[in-house]
Amino acid sequence: MIGPIVMIRVLILLFSCLLIIVSLDAITRSDEQLHFERIEETALSLLGFEDKRSANQHNLNASLLNVDRTFKKKAATLSRLLKIHIDYLRNDTDQVELVFLVDASGSVGSKNFQSELNFVKNLLSDFSVEPSATRVAIVTFGGKRNIKRNVDQISRTGENDNKCYLLNRQLNNINYTGGGTYTRGALLEALRILEKGRSDAKKAVFLITDGFSNGGDPRPAATLLKDAGATIFTFGIRTGNVDELHDIASFPGYTHSYFLNSFTEFEAFVRRALHRDLKTGKYVPVAVPDNCNLLCRNISEVGNEWNCCDNFATCACGTATGHYACICPTGYFGSGLNGSCHPCPNGTYASGEISGDFTSMCISCPDVNHVTVKVPATSVEHCVCASGFTIDRNKCEGNF
Ligand SMILES: *[C@@H]1O[C@H](CO)[C@@H](O)[C@H](O)[C@H]1NC(C)=O
Ligand SMILES: *[C@@H]1O[C@H](CO)[C@@H](O)[C@H](O)[C@H]1NC(C)=O
Ligand SMILES: *[C@@H]1O[C@H](CO)[C@@H](O)[C@H](O)[C@H]1NC(C)=O
Ligand SMILES: *[C@@H]1O[C@H](CO)[C@@H](O)[C@H](O)[C@H]1NC(C)=O
Ligand SMILES: *[C@@H]1O[C@H](CO)[C@@H](O)[C@H](O)[C@H]1NC(C)=O
Ligand SMILES: *[C@@H]1O[C@H](CO)[C@@H](O)[C@H](O)[C@H]1NC(C)=O
Repeated sequence: MIGPIVMIRVLILLFSCLLIIVSLDAITRSDEQLHFERIEETALSLLGFEDKRSANQHNLNASLLNVDRTFKKKAATLSRLLKIHIDYLRNDTDQVELVFLVDASGSVGSKNFQSELNFVKNLLSDFSVEPSATRVAIVTFGGKRNIKRNVDQISRTGENDNKCYLLNRQLNNINYTGGGTYTRGALLEALRILEKGRSDAKKAVFLITDGFSNGGDPRPAATLLKDAGATIFTFGIRTGNVDELHDIASFPGYTHSYFLNSFTEFEAFVRRALHRDLKTGKYVPVAVPDNCNLLCRNISEVGNEWNCCDNFATCACGTATGHYACICPTGYFGSGLNGSCHPCPNGTYASGEISGDFTSMCISCPDVNHVTVKVPATSVEHCVCASGFTIDRNKCEGNF
């Protein structure tokens, strides 16, 4: 870790630079500056708590208690910082390219490797993953021969480029390799991937590592990446090389590099930073409908021909939730599983595809005396006045 004094000096220096910039340019403050101001505020609250911590270290219990508080406070502060960055990343465009460089070297161990992958999963909870929105690449790196592109939706496109396949299949299939820590190679791999990315998309690289790199200085590769328009975030866990990770990260390094003393601390940080509930988001049909079969795994032993979704339903992926769902056709409601797509009840209609077992998702016709004759009823046009009633504009009038 950087000594707190050095850290404070750097912070104060950078903060004053920023103040000068802001005051020089107070009239035309861009979003970017507002963004950095919020980061400064958060960073300064980190300073405040550092001071309080050193003030009270008289007995062991108190300091233990403090360590615990500090631990929580640090996780909270760092995660607030990361959250601001994430918000900024997805603020004005849906189009984001995210590259994760995950340390799979020998010192990490397979259990902690899972915790790194958990970070990836949690971070993605803030993004809609599909070809027209966020595209993701996951590279694991160990020694020179162990740079593996496990997922790459950025430089290649595949029929399974969606969040459901990523979370339910690909992430679980990523292997822990062990070996050295060839950070430079990982950064160069990110560069090769992003070179083929969408030119107008925002680009971010997340480097997660627990050790000192070997196999050459990674800084020049990081510079190439930054020049290509990528924002680099680094996460050093346990013995991460502070200076190196600070330099690899985008400027200002202290808000783009995060240091955690242990994987436990890293997990606490990840839990806080991420996990915001995205709105339900849209569902897109998937190319391989078999993927939905995991929705009824417990009754799927029946045979290979078994189709979990109803014959009329479509297997789709929630691009925000990452869950598969069988979606009934327009005008029907139900779970979408075999035999459970029902037409909207008489007097209601549905104009979009809906998933769920609630008749409430079908919309009532404008007049209580409207009925629907056509099945499925897919628009308000299908609402007709019941017999004995005549149309008066949008209303049904009784013939008495
Ligand atoms: C210190 O904390 C332990 C439990 O965490 C407690 O049992 C002990 O009595 C405390 N000692 C003092 C001096 O407060
Ligand atoms: C995102 O944009 C909205 C308005 O478009 C703004 O209010 C908000 O502060 C921005 N958030 C960040 C993190 O820049
Ligand atoms: C992981 O290892 C298993 C067994 O060795 C192999 O079948 C699988 O293809 C590997 N996964 C990847 C993504 O390389
Ligand atoms: C198994 O399937 C039944 C419906 O056939 C469902 O009610 C039940 O919740 C399922 N169990 C699990 C563990 O998915
Ligand atoms: C599912 O559909 C098949 C054929 O359409 C049918 O034979 C079977 O009984 C259905 N199963 C359920 C649980 O509805
Ligand atoms: C809805 O109800 C009306 C009157 O009760 C009936 O004439 C009509 O056929 C019903 N629609 C359907 C789709 O059953």
